[in-house]
Amino acid sequence: MAKTYAIAIDGPAGAGKSTIAKRLAKELGFQYVDTGAIYRTVAYFLDLLGISPKDVDGVERYIDELNVEIRYDEDGAQHMIMNGMDVSKDIRTQDISQKASLVSAHAVVREALLDMQRNVAKNYNVIMDGRDIGTVVLPKADVKIFLTASAEVRAKRRTDELIAKGQTAVFETVLKEIEQRDYQDTHRPIAPLKMAKDSVKLDTSELDIDGVVAAMRKIIAEKIEL
Ligand code: DC
Repeated sequence: MAKTYAIAIDGPAGAGKSTIAKRLAKELGFQYVDTGAIYRTVAYFLDLLGISPKDVDGVERYIDELNVEIRYDEDGAQHMIMNGMDVSKDIRTQDISQKASLVSAHAVVREALLDMQRNVAKNYNVIMDGRDIGTVVLPKADVKIFLTASAEVRAKRRTDELIAKGQTAVFETVLKEIEQRDYQDTHRPIAPLKMAKDSVKLDTSELDIDGVVAAMRKIIAEKIEL
């Protein structure tokens, strides 16, 4: 089988991972994999059943009833399929962001999703974004980048993004939610958000999208012949 390349992008909520990774994937002809969407699908499924994301027994009991699939449309956009239903849009709320962060702390959930993420990387050149891609999912990734920005900058970007989508968002509330998610994602015992030793850190606080893409292309070009 031909060698496939993997670029792992980790970092906190709102650092710009998905916007940047999507664009780079298009430019490089790689498959973009948004792993946060998988955790969001689990959170959405449990939410529909009325199971609290903190309820260990409930999560363990119902996780097997869920079949999650990732599909790509002709434009390369990722769709999340929950027991046959496309829930890609339903999982993009602040409520589900928060619940996904809590659900993702359970060992049973992380184990259930691990192979699925690794299998995509076996078959395609991927740019995969998440929290534990460089540390756990693809520890041998060819390139690892840790994208970050101050909590205020991330909250501002997220607020603008939600408003642009027609949702109501207040900066102070979004900032509190981001800080809470940062805490949860970095303090969980299993696969917490942390920088891999061989990862390159990129702070995007002072950069626009073009600036981040250019910086990332430089980091990637040092490791992969494009
Ligand atoms: O990237 P996102 O905001 O869509 O992710 C939602 C939540 O899912 C995030 O707060 C933590 C969890 N997550 C994770 O634990 N591991 C990943 N690789 C990706 C996301």
